[in-house]
Amino acid sequence: MSRVIAIANQKGGVGKTTTSINLAASFAASGVPTLLVDCDPQSNSTSGLGLVKDAERPGTYQLLMGDAEAADLLQPTELEHLKIIPSSKHLIGANVELVNAEFREYRLRHALHTIRDQFEVIVLDCPPALDLLTLNALVAADSVLVPMQAEYFALEGVSELLDTIERIRQTLNPSLFVEGVVLTMFDDRTNLAQGVSSELKAFFGELLYEASIPRNVRLAEAPSHGKPALLYDPRSRGAEAYTRLAVEVLNRIRNRATTSQEVSTTQSSTTESGTTESSSTQPTAPPSEVQQ
Ligand SMILES: Nc1ncnc2c1ncn2[C@@H]1O[C@H](COP(=O)(O)OP(=O)(O)OP(=O)(O)O)[C@@H](O)[C@H]1O
Ligand SMILES: [Mg+2]
Repeated sequence: MSRVIAIANQKGGVGKTTTSINLAASFAASGVPTLLVDCDPQSNSTSGLGLVKDAERPGTYQLLMGDAEAADLLQPTELEHLKIIPSSKHLIGANVELVNAEFREYRLRHALHTIRDQFEVIVLDCPPALDLLTLNALVAADSVLVPMQAEYFALEGVSELLDTIERIRQTLNPSLFVEGVVLTMFDDRTNLAQGVSSELKAFFGELLYEASIPRNVRLAEAPSHGKPALLYDPRSRGAEAYTRLAVEVLNRIRNRATTSQEVSTTQSSTTESGTTESSSTQPTAPPSEVQQ
């Protein structure tokens, strides 16, 4: 079963794109069929995976506007199991052009519906805003992975995102949940980082991944070579940290899938019903998918 994960935090520069590229690459390197959808007009995931920024090449903008089929937009990358739907600066226009469109928040979800089953994981790299692009990603997603920097007021910054996720759960995507929270650009030698890290652990509990991503110059250099860190410098601390994170994320997804299968088997053999996490792993079809 495929899993759509939005990498979101409305704060700029916290490592959303670095996490999208390197997590997707780590999944793919372990043989998991993976798609990265660049939902940001800055197109940093696109260039970071080695595609030149080309405003004429169709991508996420055409997908949202209904001008192209997702299957026709898939671009190969250096990794056999990793495809990308690129973005371009035109995507910024979608925020305005879709304002009066019907089911405007469901555009991405509907557009990805036809190719979902080709991938085990679909990663959505979101822009640094709670705009219509991020909203489309959060409605298309099964879950949200939040990259955060260990800094004072980090929790204040993320509370707006958590409120937004809750609002979306109550309206547009009832099955959305927080996949996990990852500390980025982490420097565990400072008291500040350790203090903030334990505060976040107390707040998020199990949702905070064991793997944190260190500040590592290889991670910052790799995009200018159009490569994920595991191809640019596989032995760097950054590449290794993202590999560990990918294992944790996949284990959680697979454990959840097993639990949900067990629950559905139990439920089909008894009339008992209960609220379990599995109920939030089944995406609810938007109106536009109902006829399919
Ligand atoms: N762990 C890290 N170590 C060193 N540099 C990093 C690390 N993670 C990200 N960076 C660098 O920090 C900058 C911001 O990272 P990134 O682009 O991933 O953030 P973002 O949240 O996607 O930004 P935006 O909000 O603009 O989309 C980039 O220059 C990136 O190379
Ligand atoms: Mg980014």
